[in-house]
Amino acid sequence: MRSNLFAKMKDRIKDLLDEIDNFNADSLDNVEAFRIKFLGSKGILKDLFTNFKNVDVCENKDIGQSLNNLRKTETDKVNALKNSLENSSQDKSNYGDLTRPAEPINLGSRHPISIVKNKIIDVFSRIGFTVSEGPEIEDDWHNFTALNLPEYHPARDMQDTFFIEKDPDILLRTHTSSVQVRYMENHKPPIRTISPGRVFRNEDISARAHCIFHQVEGLYIDTDVSFADLKQTLLYFTKEMFGKSKIRLRPSYFPFTEPSAEVDIYWGLETETDYKITKGTGWLEIMGCGMVDPNVLENANIDPLVYSGFAFGMGIERIAMLLYQIPDIRMFYENDVRFLKQFKLVI
Ligand code: PHE
Repeated sequence: MRSNLFAKMKDRIKDLLDEIDNFNADSLDNVEAFRIKFLGSKGILKDLFTNFKNVDVCENKDIGQSLNNLRKTETDKVNALKNSLENSSQDKSNYGDLTRPAEPINLGSRHPISIVKNKIIDVFSRIGFTVSEGPEIEDDWHNFTALNLPEYHPARDMQDTFFIEKDPDILLRTHTSSVQVRYMENHKPPIRTISPGRVFRNEDISARAHCIFHQVEGLYIDTDVSFADLKQTLLYFTKEMFGKSKIRLRPSYFPFTEPSAEVDIYWGLETETDYKITKGTGWLEIMGCGMVDPNVLENANIDPLVYSGFAFGMGIERIAMLLYQIPDIRMFYENDVRFLKQFKLVI
């Protein structure tokens, strides 16, 4: 016969197991209260273990096991509830408040050289020029000889060259005119193309000069192309690019063009900086140009008796320095984020 106490304790333990099984909590505080209720120093288990001392010796093994099982069930339940509540609160903090406005995304910015390059491309593409590119490492033919600069021509000194190999000469292109030679070799006129790209010259680095810089050169070849077409194209370009349409052409010399000219635009003398950058004259040189020399056309198998053309070339850095009032060319290559992030707007 089981004692009364035994039966009562067994019933109680069964009820408590049910209670544990049915318990659910929506907060960690609730779980803690539930833990204290069972496992606290004045909790149910403490009570039951005290009573357990009064259980008959032959029955206490059974009761002892049931109590241990009850304690374990309670502990497991508390731990499981805690875990799931902690995880779900972590989930919440991961997502945060979904109605909050998003953090602004830190957008990068274009390099000023790219901004100016893209603008130049945009202006010329509107009058039918395509973009052509070529290698930075060139042979002598495309950089010099085909451009009417045969070996020993004194004008080769105008462009201090980085040579990579001698005989045959392999070099870093000194201008993107080399791309135009390649273009003429592969395309029949009419030709309208601009060649933006990086060029290299063995020059001392200073605030105004660098051994690496960027150019955009243009080439237009068709029947009956005259100097007047060149001038109109330049007028259109300066108007679109700088909003200024007063230009002058100064006679100059380039081996690949004849006649040749240097283009100045009237920048004005409104501000102190205008005085500085134009050395007090108001005029600024922005590019070289001219009518393509017949020898250059011949070198590219284009008949100079049928076709004529014009070419021009400008330095992107120089134009970017003007537009953004940048005093030192070296700033373009230092990758200083404080400098670079100023150029967010496309001009
Ligand atoms: N290639 C010349 C330079 O790099 C620029 C130029 C191009 C001049 C076309 C005239 C015609 O200086």
